Amino acid sequence: MKTDRADILSLLRNSGDYVSGQQLCDRFGVTRTAVWKAMNQLKEDGYLIESVPHKGYRLVESPEDILSPGEITSRLTTEWAGKKLCYYDVTGSTNNDAKRLGEEGMPHGTVVVADIQTAGKGRRGRGWQTLPGTALSFTLLLRPSFPADKASMLTLVMALSAAQAIERVSAVAAGIKWPNDIVLNGKKICGMLTEMTMTPEMDEIQYLVIGAGLNVNNASPEEFAEDIRDKATSLKIETGRQINRAALLNEILGCFEHNYDIFLKTLDLSALQGEYQRRLLGVGGQVRVLDPAGEYTGTSEGIDEQGRLTVLKENGEQVQVYAGEVSVRGLYGYV
Ligand code: BTN
Repeated sequence: MKTDRADILSLLRNSGDYVSGQQLCDRFGVTRTAVWKAMNQLKEDGYLIESVPHKGYRLVESPEDILSPGEITSRLTTEWAGKKLCYYDVTGSTNNDAKRLGEEGMPHGTVVVADIQTAGKGRRGRGWQTLPGTALSFTLLLRPSFPADKASMLTLVMALSAAQAIERVSAVAAGIKWPNDIVLNGKKICGMLTEMTMTPEMDEIQYLVIGAGLNVNNASPEEFAEDIRDKATSLKIETGRQINRAALLNEILGCFEHNYDIFLKTLDLSALQGEYQRRLLGVGGQVRVLDPAGEYTGTSEGIDEQGRLTVLKENGEQVQVYAGEVSVRGLYGYV
C-alpha cells in the first residue's frame, strides 16, 4: 500500500493525540524510515509536528492555508462528496477534468480540485481567472437518476451551499445574485458553471459536473484582472482574515450533501426556497433581462419552486426566467 503525507496527516489530525511510529508502520504497512520521511515532508510543508520518545507524533499546528490532497482529505467530514478526490497543482479546467473522469466511470461524488487553472471556464463561454495560492477551484461530479429538466436547479443548490459554507467559516452575510454568483458587499467572490452530459440514447443524464470558483485569499483588488476589478472581491479582502481553503471546501461539500438530500425529496427547490431567497439580492429592485429573444426591464420578485426568477415586466406581464438562457443585471450596478 502506498503511504504518503495525505494518509499520515489524516491519521494525525483525526486522532488529535500522539500516534506512535509503530502504529503508523502497522496501519500503512511501511517502514519507520518511510514514516520519518513523510513527517519531514509535512514539516517542510509548514505543519508543526511534535515527536516525543515513547509517545510518538502529534499534530500541533497546521499552516493557515495550504491546498494539498492531504490537507483536503484530512479535513473532509462528508459522507460521499469528495471521498474520491483528484487534486492537481496545475490543470486546464477542473470542469474538463471532471467530465473526463465522468467518461472514465468515476463515481458519484468525485471531486476535482486544482490550485491553478490555466484555462478556467466561466458561464456563457467566458474565461475564469484562477490566481495561484489564493483561489478555491473545484468541480463535483454527480450521477443523478432524475430527469434532465431538473438539473439546472442543482446550480442553485450549490450556490446556496457555498453561501452557507462561507457564512460558517467567515461569519459574514453572503448574498446570492441569481442564479449562482455569491456576492459580498456588492462584489462577486464566487461563480459556478454546471455542465451536463446525456447518455448516448439521450434519455438520461450520464453525469453532471458543477464547478465552483471562489476568490478566497486574494489580499488586494489589484490582484484581479483590470476588467473585473470593480466587481470582484475575495473573502480575505472583505473579512481581513486568511481562510483555510480545504476547510472551506469541506463546509461547501457538507452543506451540499445536506441540501441535495432535501432537493431529492421533491425534485424542486420548495424546501430550500426560503434559505435561498433570504440571501437573494435585488428582490424588489429593477433588473434588465438580457434574453437573446429580446431584452427587457422589470422588477425582480424572487425565485419560484423551480429556481426560475420571477420578473414583473413594465407592462404588467409576469415572466419566469430560466437560469442558463439569459443574463440578468441590476439596473444600477453589478447586483
Ligand atoms: C462564472 O461565474 O462565470 C462561472 C465561473 C466558474 C468557475 C469554476 S472554477 C472551477 C470550475 N472549473 C472551470 O473551468 N470553471 C469552474
